[in-house]
Amino acid sequence: MGARKRIGILTSGGDCAGLNAVIRAVTRCAVGIYDWEVLGICKATQGLMSRPPQAINLEISRVDPILTMGGTILGTTNKGDPFAFPMSDGSLIDRSEEIIAGYHHLGLDALIGIGGDGSLAILRKLAQQGGINLVGIPKTIDNDVGITERSIGFDTAVNIATEAIDRLHFTAASHSRVMIVEVMGRDAGHIALNAGIAGGADIILIPEIPSQLDKVCTHIKKRQAQGKDYSIAVVSEAVCTETGESVQQGHFDDCRLGGIGQYLAEQITHMSGAETRVTVLGHTQRGGISSPLDRILASAFGVAAVELIAQDKYDYMVTWQNRQVKSVPIAEAIKDYRAVDPQDTLVKTARGLGICFGD
Ligand code: F6P
Repeated sequence: MGARKRIGILTSGGDCAGLNAVIRAVTRCAVGIYDWEVLGICKATQGLMSRPPQAINLEISRVDPILTMGGTILGTTNKGDPFAFPMSDGSLIDRSEEIIAGYHHLGLDALIGIGGDGSLAILRKLAQQGGINLVGIPKTIDNDVGITERSIGFDTAVNIATEAIDRLHFTAASHSRVMIVEVMGRDAGHIALNAGIAGGADIILIPEIPSQLDKVCTHIKKRQAQGKDYSIAVVSEAVCTETGESVQQGHFDDCRLGGIGQYLAEQITHMSGAETRVTVLGHTQRGGISSPLDRILASAFGVAAVELIAQDKYDYMVTWQNRQVKSVPIAEAIKDYRAVDPQDTLVKTARGLGICFGD
């Protein structure tokens, strides 16, 4: 066993279920197996930007109870690119050197960054600039980080969305309505596709497969003609209107996707006469107790990240590929983001089940 190391861990970008399970796994392996020190950096890179840097010492007794807990005990942020950090006077300042200095100030030998492709790209840029020994772990409910088949948080989000669809079936049938379930996913339709199949949806709309409203309405009417007077449509927040615009909430630099469900409901009612209701699942998909699969993935990724550091193998991200944990250069992992391939097995599955994509 090599020299005793002091490693940092941070969570960056939007939270999701399973982050605490990673923090636990890293701590159990690094402290319990290697006898290293683990510092949990608070609020992503902001903790390294603060003076003194904000970090907490992670012991096994502290992390053992957090296995199932949603969110992240370290806090996180999906705002404030450190290379163009928004200041209170409205200016944008490059604060990258402060973060790098924070890493060295804490005397860290390595840093584990848990993030989506955006966070990992920023962390890598900081690492290259400042000699930070970085190992990445992919997390995002959107499941759109390249190369890895799964990212932490996705399975829990799919479970939550599926449970919501399961519940909506009964009320939809009772009232003969078209229920529209709007799910997250930013630019990728993985949650909609997976939860739509698992929940027995009739229509799945995702940004990767351009859809037409008249085809959606024809499908609803066809079902009605078959005596099925209700339908469940799962729509990804990134689906665009007929005129090709995304539907957003908020203003200026705080724009978020959201609202396509309501738009579709109005259009479907207008075009087909069906009574519609909309359920927007929003941040419920990121919360709650993490699923067993996310806990397993988080545990496997956490241990694998520590093993990479033990081998002094940096600038790598752990991945799940062909039923195994592997690692790939971070640059390669974030080169392309992973949208739904229209030829994907699950798209074919959905089509084989008679699910309508509106195309
Ligand atoms: O990337 C994760 C995600 O949950 C997206 O699915 C969603 O569009 C976005 O983050 C919401 O971000 P915020 O938490 O800032 O509202």
